[in-house]
Amino acid sequence: MIWSWNYFFFGVYPFIAGTTFLVGSAIRYEREQYGWSSFSSQILASKRYMMWASNLWHIGILTLFLGHFTGFLTNILEWLGADPVEHQWIAASAGITAGVLAMIGGLMLLLRRLLDPKVRYASRFMDIFILVWLLITLSFGLGTQFISVPDAVSGHVQNMQILIQYVRSIATFQPDPALIRTIPIIYKIHMFCGMTVFLLFPFSRLVHIWTVPLNYAIRPYQLVRAKIRSVI
Ligand code: HEM
Repeated sequence: MIWSWNYFFFGVYPFIAGTTFLVGSAIRYEREQYGWSSFSSQILASKRYMMWASNLWHIGILTLFLGHFTGFLTNILEWLGADPVEHQWIAASAGITAGVLAMIGGLMLLLRRLLDPKVRYASRFMDIFILVWLLITLSFGLGTQFISVPDAVSGHVQNMQILIQYVRSIATFQPDPALIRTIPIIYKIHMFCGMTVFLLFPFSRLVHIWTVPLNYAIRPYQLVRAKIRSVI
C-alpha cells in the first residue's frame, strides 16, 4: 500500500495507541501499584458540586463507551431488528444525550481544577491535560452529529456504515484505512483524538479505570504524596 497521511493515522497509529495502552498499563500496574490512583481531589470541593460534576461526567462517558462498543463492534441493534437508518437514529440520540451530560460534567470538573486554588495546587499537569483532551474529543464527537443527524434524516447513512466497517477492520487486525479516505474530516479528527486517549491512558489518572470497582475497594491503603514539590 502506498504511504499516505491517511494510511499512517488510520492504519498504523491505532496500533501504536493500542499497544501503548496495553503495554503501558501493564507496566504501570506492575511497577507502581501504590501510586495507582484517580488522584481524587473530591475532598477539596463542595460535596453537592462534586456530586453533580462527577455523576454527570461518569454517566456520560460510560454511556458513550458502551455506545461506541455496541454500535461499532457488535450487531446487537441489528439482532434486535433495527435497520441501518434506525441504528443511526439510536446511536445519535443516545450519543448526543450522553455527550452533552459528559460535556457539562467535564466542564464543571475542569472549572474546579482551574479556579479552586487548592485543587489547582494538588493537580499535576497531566490531570488537567487529559481532561482538556477528553473535552476536545467530546466536542469533535458531538460535531460529527452535524453530519450524522442530517444523514439519518435523509436516510443516507453510508458514512456510518463505512465507519463501522473501518472500526471493525482495526479491531480484527486487518486495517483498511482506504475505506475512510473520503469520509468528512470531522470524523477523522474525532477518531484521531479518541485514539490518542488510549495513547495517553497509561500516563494519566485514567489508569484508575482498570481497578474500579474490584481491587479498588479491597486493596490495602495507599499514601498519595508527590515526591518533589517546589515551594513558590
Ligand atoms: C478509538 C476511539 C474512538 C473512535 C474510533 C470514535 C469514533 C466515533 C465515530 C465514528 C462517531 C460518529 C458516530 C455517528 O455518526 O453516529 C463518534 C461519535 C461520538 N463520539 Fe467517538 N470515537 C472514539 C472515542 C471517543 C471518546 C474517547 C469520546 C469521549 C470523550 C467520544 C465521544 C463521542 C461523541 C459524544 C459522539 C457523538 C454522539 C455519538 O454518536 O455517540 N468518542 N465517535
